[in-house]
Amino acid sequence: MPESRSLPTVALAPDSSPVQELPGLRRALGVGPRLLVKRDDALPFAFGGNKVRKMQLVAADAIHQGADTLITSGGIQSNHARVTAAAAAKLGLGCVLVVNGAPPARPTANALLDALLGAEVRYVADRSERAPAMDGAAAELRRAGRRPYLIPLGASTPLGAIGFVSAWRELCDQMPAVPDVIIHSSSSGGTQAGLVAGCVLSGEPVRIIGVSADESSAGLTTEIRRILEGLPPLLDLPSNRFASVDVEVDDRFVGAGYGVPTVESVEAIQLLARTEALFLDPTYTAKAMAGLIARVRAREFREDQTVLFWHTGGQVGLFA
Ligand SMILES: Cc1ncc(COP(=O)(O)O)c(C=O)c1O
Repeated sequence: MPESRSLPTVALAPDSSPVQELPGLRRALGVGPRLLVKRDDALPFAFGGNKVRKMQLVAADAIHQGADTLITSGGIQSNHARVTAAAAAKLGLGCVLVVNGAPPARPTANALLDALLGAEVRYVADRSERAPAMDGAAAELRRAGRRPYLIPLGASTPLGAIGFVSAWRELCDQMPAVPDVIIHSSSSGGTQAGLVAGCVLSGEPVRIIGVSADESSAGLTTEIRRILEGLPPLLDLPSNRFASVDVEVDDRFVGAGYGVPTVESVEAIQLLARTEALFLDPTYTAKAMAGLIARVRAREFREDQTVLFWHTGGQVGLFA
């Protein structure tokens, strides 16, 4: 398998995240496969999560390009914005976050951490204003003689996704007998693109199911394919290497929309806390776990199969 670790990274959280059994959850569900969790929520940098893996490559590229300020965008409670602000603080860079929504009277959760980390937060009214506001901030900084580096939403660029190609290899090193199925939260697509690419390159027949936090299955699949198309040059592979790979996105657990709780996501948060003392976030991982629980209850998996829930973090969102 190509050595994607040879791409420059900054070691924000250099060690592997643990893989653990979920016996309490399995007992509570009564039947079903062996259940495991990959604890990216426990990555030891700025409250962890999947964005740390992407940021290790993206921030290295920013430094390589001589940047002195990171600019990105998201919602007020964006985990990606928090990790960007944290990387900037750790690396001695400036940070501008363009977030949509009204400035909170009292910042909580990720917004509180963004402030503690010293990020400059600029508010815009809605999502459509984020990209122009990022460009505006970059132009302003350049006029002031600074060197800004723009990070697209969720760092879901091919470079960011390489963080999950490496994560795939990390999992294979930890578990020579890989799981039959992986279920995780998917939103801007970089996590799933990286996992799918890593899986394909290893030749393992693992089914990877991304549970959407907001997009339709069709829309998110298109986005994941777009990221996959950008990976071959970074991995020294033929350009069509990922052209016909399977991408599976489940959009049945979004409910009324992004960040809006559902009966199933509330149950998932409580069940994981009470059976495993494991905390899920309301926007992403609770809906992904709701998808896993529904599939186990529907007896979609055999008892001799192993299903791994890739916990992508975000638990700070419980305190919003
Ligand atoms: C906690 C958490 N889980 C999952 C995701 C989805 O990851 P991706 O944007 O790579 O699809 C995000 C980011 O949007 C997130 O913050």
